[in-house]
This record gives sequence, structure tokens and C-alpha cells, in this order.
Amino acid sequence: MARKLAAGNWKMNGIGESLAEVALLLADPLPAGVAVLICPPATLLHRMAVLAAGRIALGGQDCHAAAAGAHTGDIAAAMLAEAGASHVILGHSERRADHGETDAQVAAKAQAALAAGLVPVICLGETLAERQAGATLDVVARQLAGSVPDGIAPARLVLAYEPVWAIGSGLTPTPDQIAEVHAALRAGLSARFGAAGAAQVPLLYGGSVKASNAAAIFAVPEVDGALVGGASLKAADFRPIVAALAAAA
Ligand code: 13P
Repeated sequence: MARKLAAGNWKMNGIGESLAEVALLLADPLPAGVAVLICPPATLLHRMAVLAAGRIALGGQDCHAAAAGAHTGDIAAAMLAEAGASHVILGHSERRADHGETDAQVAAKAQAALAAGLVPVICLGETLAERQAGATLDVVARQLAGSVPDGIAPARLVLAYEPVWAIGSGLTPTPDQIAEVHAALRAGLSARFGAAGAAQVPLLYGGSVKASNAAAIFAVPEVDGALVGGASLKAADFRPIVAALAAAA
């Protein structure tokens, strides 16, 4: 998959009629040089896979660390893969907040994802209180160390920096703030995987990305794409973001 990646996280949004937005997204050819990934609710994965017929990649939004078993309401990585997913979002701040997921649990889920052939899209980012306390780089370094499992091949990893305070708020960090975190993440990846390995990992920014700010965000060094929530639900909102990424240097 290309390092430039435009990913949509539909969160708990979308029923059958929402597939029309994917049909709209696919109605015209997507720009070359950019991989597009949509992570719909699991209930839509299979139908979306049939509709997309390989033209975009699809992902889940979470998986269990176990391959199968007595875990009511959870979903296994192999189930997502069978339904058509190639990726799975893990450690999103909404899962960390709503379900108390720890870095160790995220790493275990990532191992399960890899075992099922999925690429984990591991999310990290600081809260507003952590940023105000000057702890941002410490927080993301700790999350990077704890959430990315040992032994992972960097070519099978996507990272998304999503400041918790920027998600769904309309607020975004300044380009300098994004650049600082992304540089730290790339350096952390280099320390672990070497420079060539680190260069294989798409580093996405997420949090209130929209058509009007996408070009400025994609101009930030070490930003390889975006993980988009609200603005990924409608083709008319998402397509200009994909186009902005294609146009970015
Ligand atoms: P918004 O784009 O709606 O702020 O959501 C970002 C996000 O959490 C993507 O995973």
C-alpha cells in the first residue's frame, strides 16, 4: 500500500443506505498515488467489500486480542478479514476512554490483527490536560512503546496521531505542533526499526480534518495522510481530502 493514505473512520455511524456514499466516492476514478481506506461499522464491511470490489481498502474499528471464544459482543480479527477488511483501527482514544483499553491491550490486539493478516492502524495522542502540562511527547512516546507490539514488521503498521482534544471538536493543532509530534514519532520508529523500516510506516494525522484544512495539514513534514472521522461519512466531504493528499508534495 502507498505511504500516502487517506483513511475514513465511520465510528458508530452507517446503515445499509450509507453504502450510497461509497458508491458516490467510487463513481469517478480516485486519484493515483493515494491509498484510500474506509473503516465502517463491522455490520457494513462485507457489503462494502462487494461494492468496492478492491478499489479501496476496508478496515475494522477494533478487534479482540483472542482468536475466538466466549467474548460476547466482541469481534475477532479473522472475522474482520473474512468480511473484507485488510486493516483494523486499534487503540482509538474513544476505545481507550469508553472501554479503558491500555497500551498493553492494544499491543495484544495488534498481535491478533497481524496473525489474521490485518494491518493495524494504531492510534495515539494526548488529552488537552496532557498537552497543557507539557507532557505531549512523553505521552505519545509511552503509547508508541506500549501499543506497537514487539516483532511487528514496519511494513505491516500504520500509526495515527490523534490529539484527543482535536477529535470532533473543530480544533486542530498548529502545523508546528503536528510537525513536532510526527517528527518525534518518526524518530521513535527509527530507533526501533531503523530509518529504512521507519520510512515504511504511514504516519497519519487525525482530529477535525476537513476539506478546508487538509492541504495545510498534508504540507506538514512527516504527515503521510489522515484518519478522518466526521468528514469521511459523505463522499462530497471526503473526496476533496483525498484530492488534497494526492496533490501534496
Ligand atoms: P473527526 O475527524 O470527526 O474529528 O474524528 C477524528 C477521528 O477520531 C478519526 O479516528
